[in-house]
Amino acid sequence: MTAAAESGNPQADRWNGVAGRNWVAAQAMLDALFAPLQARLVEVARAEAPAHVLDIGCGTGGTTLAVARALAGSGRCTGIDISAPMLEAARAGAAEAGVDAAFVLADAQVHDFPPAQYDLLLSRFGVMFFADPVAAFGNLRRAARGGARMLLHAWRDAAANPFMTAAERAAAPHLPDLPPRQPDGPGQFAFGDEGRVRGLLADSGWTKIEIRPLDLPLSMPEAHLESYLNRLGPVGAMLQDADPELRQRVLAAVRPAFAPFVADGQVRFTAACWEIEARNPGR
Ligand SMILES: C[S@@+](CC[C@H](N)C(=O)[O-])C[C@H]1O[C@@H](n2cnc3c(N)ncnc32)[C@H](O)[C@@H]1O
Repeated sequence: MTAAAESGNPQADRWNGVAGRNWVAAQAMLDALFAPLQARLVEVARAEAPAHVLDIGCGTGGTTLAVARALAGSGRCTGIDISAPMLEAARAGAAEAGVDAAFVLADAQVHDFPPAQYDLLLSRFGVMFFADPVAAFGNLRRAARGGARMLLHAWRDAAANPFMTAAERAAAPHLPDLPPRQPDGPGQFAFGDEGRVRGLLADSGWTKIEIRPLDLPLSMPEAHLESYLNRLGPVGAMLQDADPELRQRVLAAVRPAFAPFVADGQVRFTAACWEIEARNPGR
């Protein structure tokens, strides 16, 4: 077991287990799907021209590498993640692309960062899984320079994201043990409530908090849908251990629920997210 997985955080088990392996297997598909979010983060990094960026919950490192590339020669980017398999993929991607980026395998909530190190902290969907978000954002703030900016992308609530919950609704009769979503997390929709997010950031000492809705049209080839359904979300996780008969039954029930999202060989949906911005006080 890795040091990160021993941190006592149940999310560490999840991301070092089936969820991490599935994200690695789906890396190319997910990086293409979420490219518009990454592009916004890279644009901000380029405009801020920071010396050192932290990519929180960097996963397989797509955003870390894109930021490192954008800042090459003027600034560096470090990705931190709790998942050993995802960081292994990130490091391999950096080596293959010849991009100079650093990666830290650790729980960002408790990692002993050198103080006041980062000028910009970013995340694409990597901050909704902390066991104690106030402790985590406090720890990240101590790692930020005075005046540093933090820019995070997180999902709004489940009701605003019907694409993300269509599979579990359709599969429910076949998967009675499917764990219910926990609106306050940790999990995909833990930041759905704007007031809660504002409170978490304020309680951890962040200031100038701005939370804007971000509705981005995303798309992927229809040919990727089955692989997506087999690997991602609560249904994908359960299908990993399902026998072939149950898997076929679930996929047969789930596939029609995605018909409204499919046209002309593409799957299209709107990602209903928050763009969350905050500053570390001081200079
Ligand atoms: C939904 S994935 C997003 C990955 C990546 N940012 C992307 O957009 O491809 C969430 C990531 O957060 C990581 N994560 C969860 N809890 C964490 C923690 N306490 N510290 C660091 N990383 C964490 C997971 O391992 C996973 O890689």
